[in-house]
Amino acid sequence: MTDPSISLSTYHLKAGGSLKGKVRVPGDKSISHRALLFGAISEGVTKIEGLLPAEDPISTARCLRQMGVRISSISKGSSVEIEGVGLNGLKEPKEILDCGNSGTTMRLLLGLLVGREGKHFVLTGDKSLRSRPMNRVGQPLKMMGASVRGRSNGNLAPLSVLGQKLHGAVIGTPIASAQVKSAIMLAALTANGPTSVIEPTHSRDHSERMLKAFGAKLEIGGEMGRHVKISPGTKLKGQSVVVPGDISSAAFWLVAATLVPDSVITIENVGLNPTRTGIIEVLEQMEANFQIKNKRDIAGEPVGDIQVQYKAQLKPFKIDGEIMPRLIDEVPILSVAACFCNGISQITGGSELRVKETDRLAVMARQLKRMGANIQEEPDGMTIKGTNKLIGTSLDSETDHRVAMSLAIAGLLAKGDSTINNSNAADISYPGFWSELERLQQYN
Ligand code: S3P
Repeated sequence: MTDPSISLSTYHLKAGGSLKGKVRVPGDKSISHRALLFGAISEGVTKIEGLLPAEDPISTARCLRQMGVRISSISKGSSVEIEGVGLNGLKEPKEILDCGNSGTTMRLLLGLLVGREGKHFVLTGDKSLRSRPMNRVGQPLKMMGASVRGRSNGNLAPLSVLGQKLHGAVIGTPIASAQVKSAIMLAALTANGPTSVIEPTHSRDHSERMLKAFGAKLEIGGEMGRHVKISPGTKLKGQSVVVPGDISSAAFWLVAATLVPDSVITIENVGLNPTRTGIIEVLEQMEANFQIKNKRDIAGEPVGDIQVQYKAQLKPFKIDGEIMPRLIDEVPILSVAACFCNGISQITGGSELRVKETDRLAVMARQLKRMGANIQEEPDGMTIKGTNKLIGTSLDSETDHRVAMSLAIAGLLAKGDSTINNSNAADISYPGFWSELERLQQYN
């Protein structure tokens, strides 16, 4: 099979200017995947407003369509309708399920498929995804009776799943991962008894919120909701889902407007789920200049508008294992921010970053060093001395969407222009990012 890896593209980035205006970031990626998956196994129609029209959710939709789920076309600005097939209605696919670059697609699908008795599924992905660990999902699912096989003792895709009758279990996960938790929750829906998941630290809780809204029987307990118990036996009912803007995409503008002189940006309709707002806590540590306005709740998720303005003197910050799950995807852009803080910023507790779409600790350290940053890669983080100075040069996203966009902001702040290779990786989570950047960047 051909590898659908991201092809080479180079963006020529002009340094300087200031960022001004209003921006609405695309829909939250995590919520978009879940809306598609939960809608697929519900009874009746699910209507999604604001679904992220990007490669990762499109991978989830493609796989679901291969299993007989009718999903209307996914495009910017239009709502998406799913005709649910019910908890047991997914068909055995005739072809391999290609999850593209998307870890969430592969891990959540594993949970969804292991309980489809007698049916066989093969899942694969692009070069990056085929190198990412899957035992973190396969092992707990095996505690429920699942059969998952793959290269490297079941750890690497392509993976083969033979659906089994599952039993309920009590599962303590060693890492705080919403993908692992959500996979177990999906499997639990078709098990023959209740299942509990206990996490070391609370990971993002979009699955809990949305599954409850779809009618699943869930009990949440423990400190900050670290214990989730799912009891099977209730059917899910199609819902109307409104997807808020992705705070992980807003992060690029939050940091850019804070650092680029004379900038003022308002980011509208940003999801502010407390399991995702670690970046806000870091901006507070930096004493950045921002305000959250118009806070409201939309379809079970908190949302607000964030106005952010340039600030000349920024404090360095610390990120540790406690806050990490609330900002895991924002570490690349926060490593750029650290280069412009007055002092040494320290990031620890982030060894998970090594198994994202790329090894984000290694890639960010390598790319920012090319720009002259004073950055030390550590086994589980980075130590960054703010020098207030980066130099424009040729850069490479190394195929990672969040790296591409982080380097774009670094390039704006640099002395001299930059080129960013593999810039189209941004399409994975933020289609239109480069044109939005050009719209906001002003020279006067
Ligand atoms: C996600 C969970 C996080 C995050 C990823 C999306 C999700 O991964 O990094 O981008 O939608 O559940 P982990 O579950 O591996 O922490």
